[in-house]
Amino acid sequence: MKVLGLSFGRKNGNCDMLLKQALLGAQSTGAEVEYINTCNLKIDRCTGCGACDKVREKGGMSICIQKDDFAFVEDAIMEADAIIAAAPVYSVGPVGQYKNLCDKMGASHDRCALIRENERRRELGWSEDRMIARKYFKNRPLGLISVGGARTPGWTSMGLSGMHILGFSNQMIPIDAIDAYGMGDRVNPVFDREFMARLYRLGTNIGNALKLPEEETEWMGDHEGVCPVCHCNQLTVREGVTVECTVCGMVGELDIKDGKIQVEYPEEQFNRSRYRIGGLIEHNDEIRSMRSFAMMKMEKDGHRIPGLLEPLNAINEVKKPV
Ligand SMILES: Cc1cc2nc3c(=O)[nH]c(=O)nc-3n(C[C@H](O)[C@H](O)[C@H](O)COP(=O)(O)O)c2cc1C
Repeated sequence: MKVLGLSFGRKNGNCDMLLKQALLGAQSTGAEVEYINTCNLKIDRCTGCGACDKVREKGGMSICIQKDDFAFVEDAIMEADAIIAAAPVYSVGPVGQYKNLCDKMGASHDRCALIRENERRRELGWSEDRMIARKYFKNRPLGLISVGGARTPGWTSMGLSGMHILGFSNQMIPIDAIDAYGMGDRVNPVFDREFMARLYRLGTNIGNALKLPEEETEWMGDHEGVCPVCHCNQLTVREGVTVECTVCGMVGELDIKDGKIQVEYPEEQFNRSRYRIGGLIEHNDEIRSMRSFAMMKMEKDGHRIPGLLEPLNAINEVKKPV
């Protein structure tokens, strides 16, 4: 079993050190470990060209056609059985390159789209070797380490929650997560033995998760969090006492018990989480229905668009000098 570590920090910086310590923990459980430092890799932003969808719909694999290093990282993820990612907090959330990877994985690895594509291919009578490969359907245990220099977690507040995005589209299983703020005060993490032990434990948790049957694989982190699926503590307030897990999207009712904020999530909400297939199916259906709605609308009103766009087209674009 292979655990892949992905570091988004500087080479030999804090993310690298914390990640390697976690990988030592994973290795102690018998897992094979390897790591990639992505800092100097080129992972361009998804330009929304839709080629990954189009290639897949034409019977190919779900590939990004941009000439950057995404395919290298993607292949490494696909070959791994579990992932531990460490990303620095930049401007209160994960560094931009991490989001670039999430966006590209999200578009090309959407589990619901891949399942539906294989169903379509089966209906067309295609042979097994023309199906989307099995490695695309592996549910990999996921460990997250968000690394911030600030003394207080107030300045890393969107770090971990932003890092969870990596796990949604390809249905990773959140096992453990650490909000490693306070790196400035630690000077070097190796000075803090308790902290290093905690990172090691994140790694052993990932390694141990790999030994369990998937249905028994569950969260092993220190904090339960207010969300029982992603174990984050972030809530979006809707109407009245209705709240939504900002990270994974489940809707529940806020309550205060024994002075503590709690959220009651009805049973059916669990499969609506973005970490679960129900959440992805709901979103995929939503996108499909939008397509047919858009076609109807275009048929009826499409001819009005050039006239309606005229005032917008009058705005000057500043072009980069050549
Ligand atoms: C542009 C920039 C923005 C940063 N913003 C934050 C921040 O909002 N909160 C925080 O805790 N640390 C912030 N930091 C500090 C980094 O998270 C910290 O130095 C981290 O250890 C970098 O990871 P690395 O050593 O693996 O490169 C920022 C650093 C840079 C360069």
